[in-house]
Amino acid sequence: MTAARTASAPARVNLLGEHVDHQGGTVLPVAINLRTIVNYTPGDAWEITSANHDPDGDWRRYVDGVLEVLQEEGIPLQPGKLEITSSIPEAKGLSSSAALEVAVAGAVTDLPALEVARLCQRAENEKVGVPCGFMDQAVSACALGGNVFALDCSDQSFFHLAFPHAVLLLVDPNLPRRVADTPYAERAEESRIPGTDAHRHVVEEMARVELGIDRLDHGDLVAFGRLMTESHYSLRDLYRCSHPELDRIVDEITQVPGIFGARMTGAGWGGCVVALTEPGMELDGTQLLAFDDGLDRRVV
Ligand code: GLA
Repeated sequence: MTAARTASAPARVNLLGEHVDHQGGTVLPVAINLRTIVNYTPGDAWEITSANHDPDGDWRRYVDGVLEVLQEEGIPLQPGKLEITSSIPEAKGLSSSAALEVAVAGAVTDLPALEVARLCQRAENEKVGVPCGFMDQAVSACALGGNVFALDCSDQSFFHLAFPHAVLLLVDPNLPRRVADTPYAERAEESRIPGTDAHRHVVEEMARVELGIDRLDHGDLVAFGRLMTESHYSLRDLYRCSHPELDRIVDEITQVPGIFGARMTGAGWGGCVVALTEPGMELDGTQLLAFDDGLDRRVV
């Protein structure tokens, strides 16, 4: 009989490389210290509960989707009780769904983290119907605390880039949206077509990421921050996935001395703004982000 265990997986913010993962680009997310925890106790049947979710809510599709994909893959599963708790706000662009998927797969299997990420992306694509890229599941499963997770989505290779002497602030203007209700799929399709604005965003964002890795390597936060803000303008004007309130926040806070750059993070059409700042900066209405590691599982 399989042992009882706990697995947890973090949320993320993305610093650069937005809407390029589904086009095989490189992304630069970091895992943050908001987590979804799954306590698994083997039993005779599946019994799935969540302390934070509405019992009939959408979250069940992610859990069921992961279990279905694992079964389809022929991975031996022992039914049991899954008790879910989470500190990640939903529908805010912080990747609560990927963290839930990764924590569930981590709790019921012994698969390596990268494999967990791959199967969870499949669950989201095939069972939930969101054609997301690989970024969220990969960072949630494989991140290393204190580092930027540099993931090349063309071959799923990654490396960890030391985070510079700076802090990340999150601004949450309370603009929830479900990715499934946004034009995510439609815009991703557009971005495959040369000559469109969305395609131009992808090409230019990929170039910003290459430059950004080099700037981070050299500790040039001013230049990296500028790339973040340029990324926001491109998401606003070319990819057209921002929100007027996010635009207002970015315009406002990038005027504040000590802020290197700011941008919307995640799929967009709502969600949050992330800002890179000098250490010690405090701004009203912002939350200081701490780094976290990826998938954590322990036998209890
Ligand atoms: C969502 C998707 C990711 C990625 C981002 C945009 O978070 O799940 O795969 O496409 O949007 O960069």
